[in-house]
Formats: sequence, structure tokens, C-alpha cells
Amino acid sequence: MKAIVYTKYGGTEVLQLKEVEKPSPNDDQVLIKVHAVSINDWDFGLLQGDFINRILNGLRKPKRQILGSDIAGRIEAVGKNISKFKTGDEVYGDLSGQWGGFAESVCAPEKSLALKPATMSFEEAAAIPQAAMLAVQGLIDKGELHTGQKLLINGAGGGVGTFGIQIAKLYGIEVTGVDHTSKLGMMRSIGFDHVIDYTKEDFTKSGQRYDLILDTKTNRSMFDYARALSFNGIYVTVGGSMGRLLLALLLGPWISMINKKHMRLVALKTNKDLGYMNELFEAGKLKPVIDGPYKLEEFHEAFRVFDKAEHKGKVVITM
Ligand SMILES: NC(=O)c1ccc[n+]([C@@H]2O[C@H](COP(=O)([O-])OP(=O)(O)OC[C@H]3O[C@@H](n4cnc5c(N)ncnc54)[C@H](OP(=O)(O)O)[C@@H]3O)[C@@H](O)[C@H]2O)c1
Repeated sequence: MKAIVYTKYGGTEVLQLKEVEKPSPNDDQVLIKVHAVSINDWDFGLLQGDFINRILNGLRKPKRQILGSDIAGRIEAVGKNISKFKTGDEVYGDLSGQWGGFAESVCAPEKSLALKPATMSFEEAAAIPQAAMLAVQGLIDKGELHTGQKLLINGAGGGVGTFGIQIAKLYGIEVTGVDHTSKLGMMRSIGFDHVIDYTKEDFTKSGQRYDLILDTKTNRSMFDYARALSFNGIYVTVGGSMGRLLLALLLGPWISMINKKHMRLVALKTNKDLGYMNELFEAGKLKPVIDGPYKLEEFHEAFRVFDKAEHKGKVVITM
């Protein structure tokens, strides 16, 4: 089968399209014919091999040579202990921890997968798992989303933000999105009430206060974020610079104690809310924003677009 492979850490240039052996499932796995896969920030961490990702995937060179976690496809074969799925089922999910999704076939345990609604395309399904789970868990589980709040999403034009706006609007919330000039038109078109161009305006200095901030970048200090929060406001980060995330963990409890502003961090629970996503999709309340889809042969362009953060929504590759 064909797969996008890397044998050393580096930039997108180390990725190669190669013929590799097709995997076969063990008793607790299913084999999936992958139809679509989306790119996540974590794929890039593993590709470039920063310290934490080298601990996960090999200090000197990558142990797992095929990345890709968010897949959608059709089950080709099932191991003998599989009870939830059968051959032919259309499924999707986040395979983080084992990866292997940038390939024509991949094996996965059944707990990583959900049935794909028939009306959802493989491309739409592949866009959902990681980004939508971060949005749900950031806004609802940690952010205590409720009607009447004023929400700001920082880094709003990518995966998490484009799901986040759709979830927030189910609660009738006023939402502001912060991102680059090039993404503001798309953001308005999917429902953001206000957009802020971070190249021109610093939302932490505008004097506006928000009840909830969902952050995908964590590019400001915790004190800046606290300043932009209303009394009892909640700041939730899903990711960004490791140094700032550690500071958020350290300073969060102090900031909460001193001025009643709550600083929280999402630890992703993979695939937890796929059932909820299916419900929303089938009710016509959720539509993934897709950049692409790119064909497998165009994978270098797909990775370049993601690397340069030119993408709007989720970058999807069809296999
Ligand atoms: N918590 C966990 O367990 C967990 C698990 C997996 C992933 N993550 C993290 O979750 C995040 C995923 O977010 P995502 O999928 O939405 O990422 P994304 O698609 O890359 O979107 C981020 C957006 O932020 C924009 N941006 C860049 N610099 C900015 C700035 N200074 N101010 C405002 N916006 C800025 C980017 O656009 P431009 O660059 O064009 O400006 C991009 O549109 C990543 O940080 C990832 O590491 C967390």
C-alpha cells in the first residue's frame, strides 16, 4: 500500500510517498481502508521531533514512521475479539498514540472509532476528531459554556475555532474570533459576530472583557489573559507554547485565588464526544470547514499549507 513515511525528524521535506507493507489486524483491532485523513498540530510536533515528541517516538529517529491520527474509512477486516464493528462499516476516529493514518490502510482498536453517519462524507468525518473534541472539551467541559456568556476564541480560523463557533452558537452566545487578516472573511461567514485581526489589534489591551476565552495558541501571558476576562471569567487553553502552558499550570491557581478569574487547561480525551458530533451533524447543526481536500499525490502542498498556517479550518487529504 502507499503511505506518507518519514525516517528522520525534520520539516515537510523529509516526508516521502512510499510503497510499504499493508498492516494486518491483531485479535483486538480492525483493519480500515482509509478514505480521508486530516493534519493536526501534533503530527507536526512528531514530524519535527521536539523534545517531548522524541520521548514519545524515539530520541534519535522516529520509531513509528507513518503519522496521521484523524482518519475516516471503511472496515476491511476485524480481529476475533471485535464486537462493535463488522466488515464494511464506515468509521472515523482519532488514532493518536499509535498513528499510521497517512496510509491507504491502518489498524485500530475499536475504542478509537465511531460509526460515521451515512450523510457525512469521509472528508468531513476526518476533519472532526481531534479539533472538535478539543473544542467541545474546552468550551463545555472546562469552559462551562452557557447562554448569556461573551466568548472570545484566540486562533479562531483553524480546526478548533471553526468547530468552537458552531458549538457556541448552539447556546446563542456572542462570539469574537481572533486570527490573521486572511481568515477573517471565512470566520464571518461561519457565524463569528466580531473578528479581530491579530496583526493590527491586541485584544488583551482593547478594554473589552470576555466571560470565556478559548485559546488555541497561548501566545500571551496569563496576566494578559486575566486582564481580558470579566469577573469570574474562565480562560481555557487547548494548546500552544509548552513554556506558556507550564506557566498556565503554575500561575492558574494563584490567579484564580487572587482575582476570581479561572485559568484552565484541556487534556484531550480522544474520541470522547464523537457521538455528540454525530448527533449535531445529523441534525444539520455542524458542518466541518475543510481546506482541500488534497489528493494523496498533493500531500506536500497540504503539509506546506498547514506548516505556513495558511489553512482555513481543517486540512484534509483523500487517500
Ligand atoms: N490539550 C491537548 O491535549 C491537545 C491535544 C492535541 C492538540 N492540542 C493543541 O491544540 C491546538 C489545536 O488547534 P487548532 O487545530 O485549531 O490549530 P490550527 O488549525 O493551527 O489553528 C490555529 C490558528 O491560530 C492562528 N494564529 C497564529 N498566530 C496567532 C496569534 N498570534 N493570535 C491569534 N491567532 C493566531 C493560526 O493562523 P495564522 O498562523 O495564519 O495566523 C491558525 O488559524 C494546537 O495548539 C495543538 O498543539 C492540544
